[in-house]
Amino acid sequence: MEEIKFNQIGVSFKGSGSYVPDQILTNQKISQKVDTSDEWIKSRTGISERRISNLKENVTEMGYVAALNAIKMANWDIETIDLIILATSTPNDLFGSAPSIQAKLGAENAVAFDLTAACSGFLFSLVTATQYLKGGSFKRAIVIGADQLSSFVDWNDRRSCILFGDGAGALAIEATNLFDNFIGFDMRTDGERGSFLNLPSKNNKDSIVDNIDFLSGGFSSIQMNGQEVYKFAVREVPIILEKLFRTTNFSSDKVDWLILHQANQRILDSVGDRLKISKEKILSNLEKYGNTSAATIPIMMDEAIRDNRIKQNDIIASSGFGAGLSWGAALFKWG
Ligand code: ACO
Repeated sequence: MEEIKFNQIGVSFKGSGSYVPDQILTNQKISQKVDTSDEWIKSRTGISERRISNLKENVTEMGYVAALNAIKMANWDIETIDLIILATSTPNDLFGSAPSIQAKLGAENAVAFDLTAACSGFLFSLVTATQYLKGGSFKRAIVIGADQLSSFVDWNDRRSCILFGDGAGALAIEATNLFDNFIGFDMRTDGERGSFLNLPSKNNKDSIVDNIDFLSGGFSSIQMNGQEVYKFAVREVPIILEKLFRTTNFSSDKVDWLILHQANQRILDSVGDRLKISKEKILSNLEKYGNTSAATIPIMMDEAIRDNRIKQNDIIASSGFGAGLSWGAALFKWG
C-alpha cells in the first residue's frame, strides 16, 4: 500500500493544567449580600458556588500554576517553550501579565503576551497559538486562560454578581509533522452589540497644570444586559459550530465532547439541543466554579483529561462567547 505522507506542520495537544482558589462563595453566602436565593441561582444558571481569589492570588499567580501543571503533564523542559499566550481581561498589570508568568516559569526562550477577548479569550488565544505553530514560527506553546472577575463584579448587583468566579487553565501544544489534531476554527466579533456586556473604563477629569486636563485611569464594574447576552449565545453558538462542521466535513454525531464556555447551564443545554448532541457529551462544571471567563474552557478540559473522560484521539468541539461581543469555535482532537 502506498504510504501517505503528512507534509504540512500540524498541531498536537500534550498537556493541560488548572488552578482555582480555595475560597468558596456559595449561593447561600451570596444571598446574605444581595436579595437572591440558592434556588433562584441554581434553577436559572446551574451554579451552586464559585471560587474567589484571596488577597495574595491574582491572574499571574493562578496562570503560573495552571501553566506549570500543563508543562508537567507534557513533560517539557521549560527552556523548550517558545510562546506563552495569556488570555485575560483582568491582568494584574495593564501592560500585560504574560511576561511575569514567563519569568516565574523561568521560560527564558519564550515570548509572552496577553490577549484580551473576554470569555472568548481562551478560544481566540488557542487559535492564535496554533497558527504560529502551523506557520512554522514556533514549536512549543502554552496557552493560558486566567481571570479574576471578582475584582470587577458589582457585588451589589444581583443580576450579574451571581454568575462569576476566579480561576485559570492552560494547555501545552506543539508543532508536529506527523499529523494535525487542530481540525478547524472560526471566529467572530460584533462591536455593534458590545454594550450588552462590558467592563468600561471609569475616568475622572483632573489637571496636570493650568489648561492641560487629563483623565485619570480606572475601571467601573461589569455592566450586563443578561437577557440580550443569553439570546446572543443561544443563537450564535449553534450557528458558528454548524458552520464549522460544514466547512470541515464533520457532523455533530462524530463529536465526543462539546466544551462550551461555562456561562449558564441553560445556554449549554440549549446549544446541545440545537446541535443534537446528547447531554452526556456536554461537559459542565458550572455548578462548582460559575463563569471564570477566559478560564472556563481550559479548566473544564483539564478536569476531564485528568479524570480520564477525555481520552487520546477524542474529538472535541468547543465554543467561547462573551463580551465584545465576540464568539468563536474550534474543532480538535485530544493528543
Ligand atoms: N436573584 C433573584 N432574582 C433575580 C436575580 C437574582 N440573582 N437576578 C435577577 N432577578 C430577577 C429580576 O430582577 C427579574 O425580576 P422582575 O421580573 O421582577 O423584574 C427576574 O428575576 C427575571 O430576570 P431576568 O433577567 O429575566 O432573568 P433571566 O432568566 O434572564 O436570568 C441571567 C438572568 C441568569 C443573568 C441570564 O439572563 C443569563 O445567564 N444571561 C447570560 C449572561 C452571561 O452568561 N453573561 C456572561 C457572558 S460571558 C462574558 O464574556 C463575561
